[in-house]
Amino acid sequence: MDEMIRPLVKTPIPGENAKKLIALDDQYMMTCTKTSPIAVKNGKGIVLEDLDGNLFYDFTSGVGVCNTGHCHPKVVQAVQNQASKLLHFAGTDYYYEPQSRLLEKIAHLGPGTHAKKVFFTNSGTESVEAAIKLSRFSSKRTEFMAFIGAFHGRTMGSLSLTCSKHVHKKGFAPSMPGVHHVPYAYCYRCPYHLTYPECNIHCADVIEEMYFTKLVDPSDIAAFFVEPIQGEGGYVVPPKEFLIKIKKICEKYGILFVSDEIQSGFGRTGKFFAIEHFDIVPDIITMAKGMGSGLPIGCIQFDAKLDYPYEGAHSNTFGGNPVCCSASLATIDILHQEGLIKNAAEVGKFFNEGLKDLQKKHSIIGDVRGIGLMQGIEIVKDPGSKEKAPGLRNKIIDVAINKGLVTIGCGTNSIRFIPPLVIKKQEVAIALEIIDQSIDEAVKH
Ligand SMILES: Cc1ncc(COP(=O)(O)O)c(C=O)c1O
Repeated sequence: MDEMIRPLVKTPIPGENAKKLIALDDQYMMTCTKTSPIAVKNGKGIVLEDLDGNLFYDFTSGVGVCNTGHCHPKVVQAVQNQASKLLHFAGTDYYYEPQSRLLEKIAHLGPGTHAKKVFFTNSGTESVEAAIKLSRFSSKRTEFMAFIGAFHGRTMGSLSLTCSKHVHKKGFAPSMPGVHHVPYAYCYRCPYHLTYPECNIHCADVIEEMYFTKLVDPSDIAAFFVEPIQGEGGYVVPPKEFLIKIKKICEKYGILFVSDEIQSGFGRTGKFFAIEHFDIVPDIITMAKGMGSGLPIGCIQFDAKLDYPYEGAHSNTFGGNPVCCSASLATIDILHQEGLIKNAAEVGKFFNEGLKDLQKKHSIIGDVRGIGLMQGIEIVKDPGSKEKAPGLRNKIIDVAINKGLVTIGCGTNSIRFIPPLVIKKQEVAIALEIIDQSIDEAVKH
């Protein structure tokens, strides 16, 4: 059995070596989304070592990517083997084995027994762009529905669907026309000031009753883009009935249901795709992040009936790169063979209970929510008023890093916890201790 490593922070963060690297990035890198001053040298499983020899538990999985853990030996082996054979040969134009094998594997993942097809991409946003184009083309409709709080990416099409923070869009107008946003089932802060379950899922009914009569004709809508659990928007888990109602509305009006599983897929929630918790069969699934354990690969999986009728309408150069496909084949095998999806369910439940215990102790934890190893807490000034506390949230993240736990924010005032799915309960218990101490210190501060 692997020896359990504990987080160990010996220097202030950033340490002296990290500082030098950070200065380089600051000078030359475009301003993006840097959040914490952690400069990593290597990673193994859930543990990251920085340039100054500090050891951290990675509760971000490199922002939802390393579901099999950092540098899983079977992924590394698959990448090394393939790299020595063939690095690239335009899979959209020609043929090679890792791509064909992965196509077959992906086509058989997820709910629904109908025939499915696959298109490979290089990122989450490119998967969403591919879904936008396919749904518009196949439906011959122009409009799209998405949710307030959604994050679907940052290129112009996906950015138009994104609606979680206005900083993403400010300065980039005009966005793609034809996108309509409606409120999500964010029960902790119900946009209609109702209470679940007495609300009877008004937030779904109102779409048909109001928005489809006043805002947009549903027969013009190509697709409804849905995150089964909102990610960047704050780790918001909707009631099951909400998504079931949305799916029924889609079926009634011939609207394609797109499940964006870029963050929630690949076992993260204790099922291969989060939408499986809701017993829904989507028409299109978008994937990326966890798909290649760190290598850049994404895809859409879709009902074969939607496929383009001729060559040339959509394609790319790097999609289905042989090295990335090999990493993804290894990733899928590991998730199944090593029981990581089951582990995500079990350890996730343990984690959720631990966070709920912390909520009893710390009144600033307004809400605990998540499924499997996609857990989040919302930080408030006071549980009664639910006033958001983004400054305190940031402080908690900062203190935790200095104790060896790397987490990342989401929404305005939430923290997400998305460790690699190889994590053990004892390691979650250590993380819970760090979260507990970090909240104490941040609140005192
Ligand atoms: C649900 C969801 N969709 C799309 C994206 C965009 O993915 P990428 O950053 O790979 O373009 C993300 C990224 O966080 C995401 O969480």
